[in-house]
Amino acid sequence: MIAIVTGDSRGIGKAIAERLYGLGYKTIGIARSNVKTDWIHVTGDITKEETWDKVLELIDQPIRVFVHNAGIHEKKTFEYNSLDEIKKVYEVNVFSAILGLKKLYKHIPRDENSLIVFISSITAFAGSNSGGIGYVSSKAALVGLAKQLSKELKPIRVNAIAPGYTETDMIKHWDEKRKEETIKRIPLGRLGKPEDIADVVEMLIKAKYINGQTIHVNGGLY
Ligand SMILES: NC(=O)c1ccc[n+]([C@@H]2O[C@H](COP(=O)([O-])OP(=O)(O)OC[C@H]3O[C@@H](n4cnc5c(N)ncnc54)[C@H](OP(=O)(O)O)[C@@H]3O)[C@@H](O)[C@H]2O)c1
Repeated sequence: MIAIVTGDSRGIGKAIAERLYGLGYKTIGIARSNVKTDWIHVTGDITKEETWDKVLELIDQPIRVFVHNAGIHEKKTFEYNSLDEIKKVYEVNVFSAILGLKKLYKHIPRDENSLIVFISSITAFAGSNSGGIGYVSSKAALVGLAKQLSKELKPIRVNAIAPGYTETDMIKHWDEKRKEETIKRIPLGRLGKPEDIADVVEMLIKAKYINGQTIHVNGGLY
């Protein structure tokens, strides 16, 4: 059984790939960095067709899990963001998932043991105080994509996960003050860990009646 994870070079994607590999899947991760992993790592840009063609060559068993985790952020606010910058964010965060699925979905068996997961964000529901209309709206698009594909690819299960603030490179630019203030607002009193998100991917593999949903994993922050 194959599991595919985009953005396996660090952070949340690395934790998810590690978990799926540990669960016994032939795990294929994709990122632009050429990293050494226990699982199979394809070095490439997921917005490019040739990267997915490289993945396709490795498919020799059914794909049971497809996690689109890779994402990029732009921090400018609306007035300073160019349309091209926003399109670039959508290319990675949304269109690459559609491109990858168009290439691979025929290898995903049409039954409820197959799972597609999109990693959205708390910001899709709460917005962001630091800008990023491309990021926030693209993460909201993934919620709609999960809902719609759960109907169109049925009975493959398609869900989204909306992480809260999780300790990875994506938030490493935060200063201590911002970190402390955010932690104060989180009922569990800590930021998320990449493994917290991997736990939910594992849960979704088991929880066979969850479909078309977005699972919020944010320590209770709203
Ligand atoms: N951390 C948070 O607080 C948080 C909160 C909510 C949602 N999320 C979401 O969770 C996901 C993972 O976030 P993270 O914090 O782990 O981010 P991260 O540390 O910045 O990692 C992002 C991953 O995406 C890959 N990637 C980016 N552009 C790519 C491209 N064009 N082609 C292939 N791979 C690409 C990166 O690899 P390369 O650079 O090697 O290509 C990296 O592996 C993202 O979708 C993010 O929006 C994160």
